[in-house]
Amino acid sequence: MSELDGRIALVTGGAGGIGSAIVREFANAGARVVLHYREGTERARALAEALGPDRCHLVQADFGSDEGVLELWRRAVAWNGGIDILVNNAALHARVDPEADFDEWNAVWRRSFQVNVFAAAHLCREAVAHFRARGGGVVISISSQAAYKGSHANFMHYAAAKAALKALTQSIARAYASDGVLAYVLAPGFVRRPEGHASPPPELPMGEAPAEEIAAFVRFLASGNARHATGATVDITGASYIR
Ligand SMILES: NC(=O)c1ccc[n+]([C@@H]2O[C@H](COP(=O)([O-])OP(=O)(O)OC[C@H]3O[C@@H](n4cnc5c(N)ncnc54)[C@H](OP(=O)(O)O)[C@@H]3O)[C@@H](O)[C@H]2O)c1
Repeated sequence: MSELDGRIALVTGGAGGIGSAIVREFANAGARVVLHYREGTERARALAEALGPDRCHLVQADFGSDEGVLELWRRAVAWNGGIDILVNNAALHARVDPEADFDEWNAVWRRSFQVNVFAAAHLCREAVAHFRARGGGVVISISSQAAYKGSHANFMHYAAAKAALKALTQSIARAYASDGVLAYVLAPGFVRRPEGHASPPPELPMGEAPAEEIAAFVRFLASGNARHATGATVDITGASYIR
């Protein structure tokens, strides 16, 4: 028997670097996975095809729209009649110079919070109600080391949004542990991306982490084998940042 046999997961941003590794890891552990994507249609289709229609179901949504987020949740639940695991992985990592025009600055801050915080909060709200009615479930949020140590001037919005996502997830852990709802934060440092990073990573003792290592941790947390660690943040920084 595999670790996630019989579980149904929703992974947001499932066509991205870390998201696709999580989708693969979950499917290999026996889960059925709703892969949410926005513009990564070809990557999403290729992965879904490789895993097969019983293992992976595609739902497209742009988190710029609240209605799009809620429709994603409805379609995810409708696929097999329920969701057991929500992974908040999708994120916008846009650059904005604090000396840019106010309108440009303001637009990036608002879009960052819409995608990185409000969309995740709406999904969490739906998921918590659903999990409580079913006797439990797991929320895993992919935050960042930036939530704890801040970021460069051009990514202040991102650090602030990741701190909000962390606090949202911790609050769920505290509020709903007695209902069987578990919630965890992952705080990666630099994770390998096929296209590289917006700003060059600093000297890293172990180099960039492979996405598969993040995915393996997400699978472990989703398995229910770390129940009393609910509320915890797992730092995956290769010792480049230790709190
Ligand atoms: N890579 C790192 O070094 C690192 C470090 C710390 C934390 N993280 C976090 O890890 C997670 C995954 O990052 P990644 O490196 O795998 O980046 P990624 O490949 O860019 O994945 C992010 C995904 O978010 C989705 N997304 C972006 N804007 C969206 C929107 N408006 N509506 C819906 N979905 C949207 C994209 O979907 P489509 O591709 O389908 O458009 C994309 O695949 C993120 O939460 C990121 O903040 C990454």
